[in-house]
Formats: sequence, structure tokens, C-alpha cells
Amino acid sequence: MIDTQAQNKQRQNLDDFNEIWVFGYGSLIYKVDFDFLDCKTAYLLNYERRFWQGSHDHRGTPEHPGRVLTLTPSKDSKCFGKAYKVTHEVFDHLDHREKNGYLRHQTTIHFTDNHSIQGLVYIASPQNPAYLGEAKITDMAEQIYNSTGPSGPNRDYVFQLADALRHYNEFDQHVFELEQALIQYSTEGPNT
Ligand code: SIN
Repeated sequence: MIDTQAQNKQRQNLDDFNEIWVFGYGSLIYKVDFDFLDCKTAYLLNYERRFWQGSHDHRGTPEHPGRVLTLTPSKDSKCFGKAYKVTHEVFDHLDHREKNGYLRHQTTIHFTDNHSIQGLVYIASPQNPAYLGEAKITDMAEQIYNSTGPSGPNRDYVFQLADALRHYNEFDQHVFELEQALIQYSTEGPNT
């Protein structure tokens, strides 16, 4: 399994940031297992979330990887999420949590109250070995429905995220389509 922790430690000098904000668009929206100083709803421009990253360590296993989110560039898109103001120390935990292929990127985080700041976001690019890429929604639903890992069933990642987005009145077609496909798979089984 890959481990991006050492690479991430070299990527930014955290001392360059007056305040450090990290943007979450996937499990970092609904599973907040770290301390933060402040938290705001926010969005990134020109990105969309996609279930294109393999998960060998959280929602699947090396033999049967699950699928979790990454961001893909998409002109004029707006990806909603949550931004957390954190201390440097939190990155030891976050780098460990996101170690299966995610690299920290500096990005402009737009807060929903209209100002923006330079912050960090974890993105798993197509170059990382755990990347799975695009697949049919029904195939992704089948893989996700049948995957589970140390952090729990893969399908709960999708359901919890969809619930969180509804809580904020946010619509994300990719997430909601996958949620529907999972519900359909659970009642009807695989498409024949
Ligand atoms: C994120 O939530 O921002 C990164 C992907 C994940 O951990 O689910």
C-alpha cells in the first residue's frame, strides 16, 4: 500500500500560513476526529467530487478496495465543503488519515460569507497507485455495496455524506445518483 505521509510533510511550509485552514469535501465533512479552532461552510471553484479513489485502508482492503472521494478539475464547477481552522499539529493526524494516495494542495478556499483565504485540501490524483478512476454508476454502486474496511462499510461513506449535504441544502448529482444506485442495488441486487 502507498503512504503519502512523508511526501506531504515536504509539500508546504506550514509556518508560511498565518492561519491554517483545511478544506474537507468527503469524509472530512461528516467525520471530524480532530480538534479545530473554527469551522465554516465553504467551497472550491473549478473542482467536482468523484468516487474515483480506491480505499485499501478505510472503506475496503488491499484485496477488495472500496471507493472514496477525490476532486477532479472541472471548469466553472463549485464544490461545497467545510473548512476547518487548525493548528500545525493536526496535520500529523490528517496526513496519516489521508495517506492512501492523497497529497496536500494549496488552494483558494471561498467561505460562504463571501471572503476567501489560501488553505489546504487533500486530493488524490490519477497518478497515485490507489486511483481507480471513472466507472458506470451501477458498477461503482456494486463495488461500494460489497466493500468494507476498518472504518466501516463503504456504503456508509456515501450515505453519511449524502445526509450531510442535505443538511446543508447542497445538491451534488454524482453523490445523490450513487446513493440512489446503492439503494436500488440493496433491494434488487446486481443488474443482469
Ligand atoms: C476530504 O474529505 O476532504 C478528503 C477525502 C476523504 O477523506 O474522504
